Amino acid sequence: MNDLAPLRLDDDLRVLVLTGAGVSAESGIATFRDSNGLWEQHRVEDVASPEGFARDPALVWRFYSLRREAAAKCAPNPGHAALAALEDRLGDRFLLATQNIDGLHGVAGNTRVVEMHGNLYTTRCSGCDRRPFRDDSLHPDAVPRCDRCGSMLRPHIVWFGERLDPADLQRIEDFIRAARGHRMVFLAAGTSGVVYPAAGLVDVCRRAGAETVLVNLEAPDNVGAFDRVITGRSGEVLPALFV
Ligand code: APR
Ligand code: ZN
Repeated sequence: MNDLAPLRLDDDLRVLVLTGAGVSAESGIATFRDSNGLWEQHRVEDVASPEGFARDPALVWRFYSLRREAAAKCAPNPGHAALAALEDRLGDRFLLATQNIDGLHGVAGNTRVVEMHGNLYTTRCSGCDRRPFRDDSLHPDAVPRCDRCGSMLRPHIVWFGERLDPADLQRIEDFIRAARGHRMVFLAAGTSGVVYPAAGLVDVCRRAGAETVLVNLEAPDNVGAFDRVITGRSGEVLPALFV
């Protein structure tokens, strides 16, 4: 199972990377489905769904305030750094789709990033069409209100039952389409592969002719979709993966 042979970079190579919570685990950020993960301590439907927000918005803001506070203390790890270095080498032949909301890929230096599930430090209004805005404020007690229209503010995060931003999906599709006819690698790292549409990207890329590689602490359910599986910590494997 552990195929540690490094991936050779050449001028034709396109790389689409998909990251999940496991990539930030070594930075000290809690994952969702591991033991002691966030979804063992919180009910998903209470803190990460539109229905939960409608029922108890203060609880939702308490949850995301804790996430903001915890993530603010964390720094990128060598796995993030390796992906930033890879983008430096490949430029537009690289795209990073992340399910992570912690922003650490940007801190590490990646710029070609699609934050599929939104961003922890971005807030938007639930009532008016004002643009989502950068926000690191904490609201452990009361629900913040929009100073333009008075509606409740909410985290700019894609919750269960919500659609991803079509522009984000388009950007990923465009990258895959442009990679046709070239050598392409799809690299997933630190994700349990159960949340769609992210979990379906491996199949899309495989149909487009990509070599599919997974770096994960343990083999998840969708392991069969990958040509190569490397079990290990992303902070240790990713820095050695590309030569
Ligand atoms: N290196 C590599 N993989 C790791 C590491 C590590 N250091 N630590 C944990 N992992 C692996 C776990 O084995 C697990 O398979 O990372 C995976 C994390 O899985 P999840 O907790 O399910 O996180 P993710 O796949 O990102 O979840 C997807 O679900 O609720 C949501 O919206 C949330 O974006 C999230 C989505
Ligand atoms: Zn408003």
